[in-house]
Amino acid sequence: MLTTNIELAKQALMAGSIIAIPTETVYGLAGNAFSEEAVHKIFALKKRPLYNPLIVHIRSVDYLSRVAMDIPPAAITLANAFWPGPLTLILKKQPHIPALVTAGKDTVAVRVPDHPLTLSLLQQLDFPLAAPSANPFGSVSPTTAAHVAGYFNEELPIILDGGPCQKGVESTIIGFENDQPVLYRLGAISVERIEAVSGNLLFHTKGEGEEVAAPGMLSRHYSPNTTTLLTSDIQGMLNRYQGKRVGLLLFSTAIAGNAIIHQEILSPSGDLNEAASHLYAALHRLDKLNLDVIIAERFPDKGLGMTINDRLRRAVN
Ligand code: TXA
Ligand code: MG
Repeated sequence: MLTTNIELAKQALMAGSIIAIPTETVYGLAGNAFSEEAVHKIFALKKRPLYNPLIVHIRSVDYLSRVAMDIPPAAITLANAFWPGPLTLILKKQPHIPALVTAGKDTVAVRVPDHPLTLSLLQQLDFPLAAPSANPFGSVSPTTAAHVAGYFNEELPIILDGGPCQKGVESTIIGFENDQPVLYRLGAISVERIEAVSGNLLFHTKGEGEEVAAPGMLSRHYSPNTTTLLTSDIQGMLNRYQGKRVGLLLFSTAIAGNAIIHQEILSPSGDLNEAASHLYAALHRLDKLNLDVIIAERFPDKGLGMTINDRLRRAVN
């Protein structure tokens, strides 16, 4: 059921249910982070493998010590600069956080979401909310309540409707090695904005055969059902797919041509932030058109263009 009633959401969570919540990035599938039973329901509903840990959503910076410990000064600096907001920090976990939340790791992912409904909900609860994006594992993240209903309408007692997500891509994830910030996942805050606060970021790289650091980094993720391609040469790709039902995902400028079934222009004014906020909604629309192929344009590799390219690379299937 879609609702804006926080009281209903609160009652459902206190009874141990899973509900959908709005955030500024994408919708989340939320449950009591202190309850192993509730967290188990999240994994089951999302069909998420148990090795992929969840983000714990808290109400404020002050609450951080309830879930994390031995917090490096650089983490506090980043939290103060960006919370509430689309920044997730990987920190040493408090022992009482269920191992299921963190996939057995001794670290926990934490953030303060910047959405008035969800912040108000968190303030009324005496537990934080574990929440992955509210999509089945591997598919495109939801940025409206209707997207969530499209995935899980039957299974969710409550979808808290907070309108379209303002950022439209997931949070940026930062961990720490020897107190030095390390980028685990590109997201809604650009590398440039993080570095303006923290100084140079290390980029997490994983060696061959090493365990996955943040499965948001899994090579196939965020995928539409329709075959999706990423290219810097739209015209060349169009020539190759002549006669096919083609949908285009473009940055700022439309392409002339009557064979093109549908074009999504993410930001006519060429603004990368606006483009990021429209990315998933455009993919959801394109995926409904029964196309042979979605051809996406490679974005400029700066600011949120880096995040958009990262998600498009993983959408390629
Ligand atoms: O914007 C967001 O971050 C959204 C909203 C709902 O907050 N959530 C989200 O959750 O994107 P999810 O579950 O789709 O992605 C969480 C990512 C995964 O890639 C997971 O592997 C990583 O966070 N993660 C969680 N705990 C971790 C940990 N202890 N160490 C490394 N990565 C972790
Ligand atoms: Mg996700």
